[in-house]
Parts: sequence; C-alpha cells; structure tokens
Amino acid sequence: ARKIILDCDPGHDDAIALLLAWGSPEIDLVGVTTVMGNQTIDKVTRNALSVAAVAGITGVPFARGAHRPLVRDVEVAETIHGDSGLDGPALPEPQLELDPRHAVDFIIDTVMAHEPGEITLVPTGALTNIALAVRKEPRIASRVREVVLMGGGVHVGNWSATSEFNIVIDPESAHIVFGETWPLTMVGLDATHEALATPWVVEQIAAIDTAPARFVGELLEFFGQTYLREQGFEHPPVHDPCAVAYVIDPTVMDTVRVPLDVELSGTLTLGMTVADFRSPAPDDCTTQVARSLDHPKFWNLVTDALTRIGDP
Ligand code: BDR
Ligand code: CA
Repeated sequence: ARKIILDCDPGHDDAIALLLAWGSPEIDLVGVTTVMGNQTIDKVTRNALSVAAVAGITGVPFARGAHRPLVRDVEVAETIHGDSGLDGPALPEPQLELDPRHAVDFIIDTVMAHEPGEITLVPTGALTNIALAVRKEPRIASRVREVVLMGGGVHVGNWSATSEFNIVIDPESAHIVFGETWPLTMVGLDATHEALATPWVVEQIAAIDTAPARFVGELLEFFGQTYLREQGFEHPPVHDPCAVAYVIDPTVMDTVRVPLDVELSGTLTLGMTVADFRSPAPDDCTTQVARSLDHPKFWNLVTDALTRIGDP
C-alpha cells in the first residue's frame, strides 16, 4: 500500500478525502495534518478529529499545522463550508488526542524516518505546511515519493476569475511547493469539476446505509446547497478525494506533463496556476496536471471505501 500523509482543512470534501484514504486498502494513512483554509485552524483541526470519530479511525497520528498563510491574512470559505467548516451533519466529540508536534515537524519527522520514495504527500488545502516543511528540512524534497495536491486549474478559477481557493489563499506557499524538485501532480479544477455528486452518486452512498455513509450524505446535502447558491453548480464538485483517488489508481484521470508556476504579483491573476503548453515539456519538468476524470470509476472508489469502513 502507498504511504500517504493527508494535509487537509476539513471542509466537506476534505472529510470525504479522509474517509476514502482510510477505507482504501491501496492506501496506508501514516498521518493527517491540518492547515487553516476552509475555516480557522482550531475549527478544521476539530473537524478532522470528529471525522475520525465518525469513521472509527484509530492508530493514525493527527497533527495541527499553520494558523495563517506565509504572507497573507487568513481568508476562510465560510460561504461554502459554513460556520463550523463542516456544517450539515452533527459532529461527534473527538476521541483521538492530537499529536504534540506541529504538523510541519510531523511531516519532516515522518518523511525522514522512512526510506526515500516511501512517503507521498497529499495536500488538499493551502500549501503552507508543505512549504514550511521543505524550507525547514530541504532534504525532504528528494525523499518524498511525490506530491499529489488538490488545487489550481488550467486556466480556470473558483475563488477569482483565474484562481482556485487553495492556491490563492497562500500563493507564496504554492509557489515554493510547485518550484521544488519533487514530482508533483496538480489535481485541479479541470478534473475536480467533473467529480460531481450527481443523484446517482447520492443514491449509491445512501444505499450503503451505515453511519459514516449517512454522514457523507449529510455533507453532500449541505455542500450541494452552498455550491448551487454561491457558484451555480447543479451538483457539487467534490474536489479533495480526487487527489487521494489518483494515488489509489492513476487511471482515474488523464494527466499531462507541463511546466507549472504560480502567479504572485498579478493584480487580476494572483494565485493563478500558469501552465506552459508552448512546446513539449522539457526533460527536467517534474510537474504534471490532471485534465479530466473518469466519473464512475472515481465514485466507485469512494463507495467501495465507505462499504469497507462499514459501521465502526
Ligand atoms: C478547494 O477549496 C476548498 O474549499 C475545498 O476543500 C477544496 O480543497 C476547492 O477549490
Ligand atoms: Ca480542502
């Protein structure tokens, strides 16, 4: 199984990403780290632990990370994820204790304690923790197997005309992470806007009929309302589990190698992930981008994971 650290800001779709990782035999979840984003660090960290309680996750360290971006002020997505960051279902009391380490130290310790090429980083929020970790311990850049992140788009935005939320709330961190030498797969809006929770999906999940599946049903109901109201989506795009799905089965999406960078000074385009498609990618290009998603294959991975989780 592939060893991953999920670095997240739950967040409705982050919660589903966590359940997908936990319920998939192809994934060995070696840690969960949190970062501010959809809500404050206190709220998203509590949410992560509540999701762990729902799914009966034990034996996995959870570590709290950055409380603000490197340069910018905190900007939360309350309009999409609500006041708690995970509005909709009842959120159970956390049962796990947090790891005493900061997420940045947890990431460094874990990567350095494993063989080179063993740990995959899966960020589904702002890239603050990952940027801080690689600045504090640059050796992780060559030890990490790859970074598979949810963020960005070519060239499509959701938090501005050109920019996606996870990137635009901390573009400086994204710039650091995209510029590193590790292999990086950007699972952006091109793929995740195809991960729609259609009525077929909602039905499949309801049929599982367990507490975690009902929890996901309630998440999707709230997420569907805010995505319709705020962004005009008839069915909500469930972004973050797409990155986990890529680690489980890369054939779930089409990818193409292309140089990527993040705009840091555009007055209209701050946080845009710029892909240079002018010529064949140079040999030293370590970045690739997902272009589309196999909808049934993706959702089957999610429902399989929920079925395996059962009723803990
Ligand atoms: C991303 O932004 C967050 O609100 C979601 O959790 C997802 O990671 C989508 O743009
Ligand atoms: Ca997220």
